[in-house]
Amino acid sequence: MADIIDGKALAEDVVAKVKVETATLAKSDVTPGLAVVIVGEDPASQVYVASKSRRAKECGFHSVQHSLPVETSEHALVSLVEDLNADPAIHGILVQLPLPEHIDETRIIQAIDPEKDVDGFHFINVGRLGTGALDSAFVPCTPAGAMLMLERVRGKDLSGLSAVVIGRSNIVGKPMANLLLAANATVTIAHSRTKDLPALARTADILVAAVGRPEMIRGDWVKLGATVIDVGINRIPAPEKGEGKTRLVGDVAFAEAKESAGAITPVPGGVGPMTIAMLMANTLTSAFRTAGLEPPAF
Ligand code: GUN
Repeated sequence: MADIIDGKALAEDVVAKVKVETATLAKSDVTPGLAVVIVGEDPASQVYVASKSRRAKECGFHSVQHSLPVETSEHALVSLVEDLNADPAIHGILVQLPLPEHIDETRIIQAIDPEKDVDGFHFINVGRLGTGALDSAFVPCTPAGAMLMLERVRGKDLSGLSAVVIGRSNIVGKPMANLLLAANATVTIAHSRTKDLPALARTADILVAAVGRPEMIRGDWVKLGATVIDVGINRIPAPEKGEGKTRLVGDVAFAEAKESAGAITPVPGGVGPMTIAMLMANTLTSAFRTAGLEPPAF
């Protein structure tokens, strides 16, 4: 039976450290500032954005939220981003994705000052991560959180371990692979076109699932003793709870996988809570850098 890696508890540890370090910064008269921008009314995005703003306030940050109507033009959004770039009270800018179809996401992300890009999506930060310049990069929050969880089980040096990342998205799969590589793991990125995915998954000491398909990774895909990091958050019908009810599941069939895994992240309560905690850590890091101070390590 696997150890369950408690993302909620670890996220609280990260946030507790952010609060302490925010109090340290206050002695230099600096308050970390986070601006969160949302365009449109997507209910899931509204929930995420509200919890990001709430967490930022709880950390003692200057927290601002810009909620714009769905018909906002690309030009107006770029203007807002430019204003936030120029605002010295703001250290982190997050534009919630997805954006409405008439807005070019790449154009908006590239308009964000790379030194305030706490999502780590700007080409400059992608390049820093890809070249191993981790001291100056902002690392995307979900893979950064997943790495912290992995560290708790395997330590910081993954030399000699094989890692398989299932999923090749820019937000999770690719940055996760780069982080694993920077930690000396031997990394394979698998995806929907990979041949015999179950056999490949079974070679992994570290298995990261980021595909967005409910319970796709079955128990017999997991090597005995492997560390399984489940990044998926999928809402599926749960008729057993009553008509119209739903529940959250990961990309991994948890009940099966925990029989072979050495350690596994649950859903909910795994990687999910870590994402927002790492956004707070990134915003704090940005404020330290702007003040010319060495940021704390997480
Ligand atoms: N939408 C879903 N996840 C994310 C994220 O990590 N950052 C942003 N900006 N939008 C998202």
